[in-house]
Amino acid sequence: MKGLVLAGGKGTRLYPLTNVVSKQLLPIYDKPMIYYSLSVLMLAGIKDILIISTPRDLPQYETLLQDGSKWGISISFAEQCEPGGLAQAFTIGAEFIGTEQVCLILGDNIFYGQSLKTSLRAAAKNPGGATIFGYRVKNPERYGIVKFDQNGAPEKILEKPDTAPSNVAVTGLYFYDNDVVEIARTIQPSARGELEITSVNNAYLERGDLRVEMMMRGSAWLDTGTHASLLQASLFVQIIEERQGIKVACPEEIAWQMGYISIEKLHALGADLMDSEYGAYLMALQAD
Ligand code: TTP
Repeated sequence: MKGLVLAGGKGTRLYPLTNVVSKQLLPIYDKPMIYYSLSVLMLAGIKDILIISTPRDLPQYETLLQDGSKWGISISFAEQCEPGGLAQAFTIGAEFIGTEQVCLILGDNIFYGQSLKTSLRAAAKNPGGATIFGYRVKNPERYGIVKFDQNGAPEKILEKPDTAPSNVAVTGLYFYDNDVVEIARTIQPSARGELEITSVNNAYLERGDLRVEMMMRGSAWLDTGTHASLLQASLFVQIIEERQGIKVACPEEIAWQMGYISIEKLHALGADLMDSEYGAYLMALQAD
């Protein structure tokens, strides 16, 4: 299975923070935002990842992440010239995806929770169709929302509805079979001129091939799109890390746990960051 991280967009709600810096490079407490989405893909067992960003920002991602080999994975890069919608990821990434299944994650989404790894592994194992994740939110007007029928089965996904038929929002994490590339080529732009991921999901739903997995109340799906939510996400991560003495979404640690890199390599990565508490954390990790 291939992984795509969509890290473009304009980040207009975060101006002036994003006037010259990509949103997904901004800090969430102690690490760049994109580390969180990369960690999710790594936990799902995905080792071949394409980062999609703007021509302005892509060079910075390349400098930060290089080819991924330091974490025992493969990272490549592609440009999205204009933010034409989330579903463009599949046409931009068509060659990279080839004949494989694919997982798309939005680079500004943060997931945290006990059953996350199990849900990710289960979704990655599904041989056909699509799996998306639903999460109950207070302000459904801002998201893609799942409309359920009388039996509780998903009936339609509505993009930012004025009156929401439920409080279940579609998160920015999607698993698809290879048909997604063809589906993305055939959908039409929405009224706002974007190739919507909601159109892709509805195409799967119409075929009876869409699973909506609920993320339960014990898990966190955090927004980072506004100044307040950006700060709140940092505080959330800080509170957990300080309380437990662990790191949330640390790709180096995940690479080691997944068996992609040795403990010696992990400590060498820590030594490169030695002046920071992050580096000290990596150097102190030991097998139980
Ligand atoms: P949005 O939140 O819809 O857009 P944005 O991040 O540009 O923010 P704003 O509303 O403040 O202008 O995008 C969700 C994620 O998808 C985010 O990580 C940016 C990314 N994205 C792309 O990479 N390409 C696109 O064409 C779009 C629409 C979004």
